[in-house]
Amino acid sequence: MARMLIRGGNPLHGTITVSGSKNSALAIMAAAGLAEEECILENVPRQYDVWTMAMILRSIGAEVWFDAAGRLHINGKGIRPVSPPYDLVRRIRASFYVAGLLLALRGYAEVPLPGGCSIGSRPVNFHIKGFEQLGAKVTIEHGCMKARAPKLTGTHYFINRASVGTTINMLLAACRAEGTTILENAAKEPEVVDVAIFLNSMGARIRGAGTDVIRIDGATRLSGVEHTIIPDRLEAATFAIAVGTVGGRVTLHNVMPEHLRSPIMKLREAGLTIEENDASLTVSGEGRMQAVDIETAVYPGFPTDLQQPFVSMLSLADGTSVVRETVFDGRFRYVDELLRMGADIKVERDTAIVRGVERLTGAPVEVTDLRAGAALMIAGLAAEGETELSQAHIIDRGYEQFDDKLRTLGADVRRVDVDEEDVPDFTVLGEASVAL
Ligand code: EPZ
Repeated sequence: MARMLIRGGNPLHGTITVSGSKNSALAIMAAAGLAEEECILENVPRQYDVWTMAMILRSIGAEVWFDAAGRLHINGKGIRPVSPPYDLVRRIRASFYVAGLLLALRGYAEVPLPGGCSIGSRPVNFHIKGFEQLGAKVTIEHGCMKARAPKLTGTHYFINRASVGTTINMLLAACRAEGTTILENAAKEPEVVDVAIFLNSMGARIRGAGTDVIRIDGATRLSGVEHTIIPDRLEAATFAIAVGTVGGRVTLHNVMPEHLRSPIMKLREAGLTIEENDASLTVSGEGRMQAVDIETAVYPGFPTDLQQPFVSMLSLADGTSVVRETVFDGRFRYVDELLRMGADIKVERDTAIVRGVERLTGAPVEVTDLRAGAALMIAGLAAEGETELSQAHIIDRGYEQFDDKLRTLGADVRRVDVDEEDVPDFTVLGEASVAL
């Protein structure tokens, strides 16, 4: 299994370009399958999850390949109503977007349920209820969801909780339904808006994305288009948090600061200096940050995906911070690893009390999920001595060349024991493809 060796203590200096948004790319890849012609996507990150999504789409008959300029081509003409293999589906939650795609396109979707996950329970009951409201007959058999709907009909669906995945799956299915669908309590995340902009450019008629009521008027035909994926707000903020933790001055290009209002506010409150430009941020920090309290929430609240890296920063801050996780029920599992590095954190149900310590010390730690990987990497950058991250390949699921970018900024990070099985073979996806 891949390990990452980090020798802590180097402040970060320099400039990096943030990659395209993983969560937007995964959804838009599925949406692209709805078009009658090929779609071309720019700013798609080269990450393991993107590779997995490409393989899932190929398994149901789509053509998916990178051109020499690094643009991703997707042609859904050949998509058949077959089940993607469980071995691929179980790796990423976004695989369930294939259900909305297949229902809209072929009137039948058979998709293995993605199962549990190391950040907590992640059911798909809201997605299924939405499909049923659009007129699908849904059964769960042998671990698979089977949904059949010769015709989808517009509906009024109040989503029990503002779920990102449910909102996106409903956009995919409802944009080809007959009549109008109203989604209430819809998710407002920038990735949802990116999907709606993409679908509208294909000919869909979606209004209100970015608010909690979305209206979708069904369209009979969607055309192939070109689209540029939005920048990854989570990657940008992760690097800003790293600067807050170890100090330095870093300029981040390809950023939409308006997607980062809440994290920018909290980082400033903690003492980080952040200069905002049109499409870039310059962050600088020196000495210890101040303790701040955070509570994760749906957008535009503080993102759950930044809770873990933020706690690494707070574990070295001056004072005690209270961190409440309201989105996922198991997203503090990584805290045990931070404790091994000398952090002082007490978790009670959905709340972590983080008492800032003056130093962390390097230790062998294990990456439990993607964002925990970023959190432990950041802790390692600040710790005295060497930190050894096992299961480090998990970081490649959602950060493009994370360790390369950190090295560019002056971090002492090395990758060892890379296992071929953990490296997605991008060469199978086309001529411009390079292995991670
Ligand atoms: C998306 O997951 C992201 N994943 C997650 O990022 C992100 O943490 C999450 O949204 C919240 O922002 C992708 O976009 C691929 P939800 P998603 O549906 O869509 C419950 C990362 O690290 N729920 O908004 O699965 C659910 O259990 C990942 O990049 C149900 O109960 O999140 C959770 O508590 C991790 N039933 C809450 O709603 C359902 O049918 C919000 O989940 C659906 C969700």
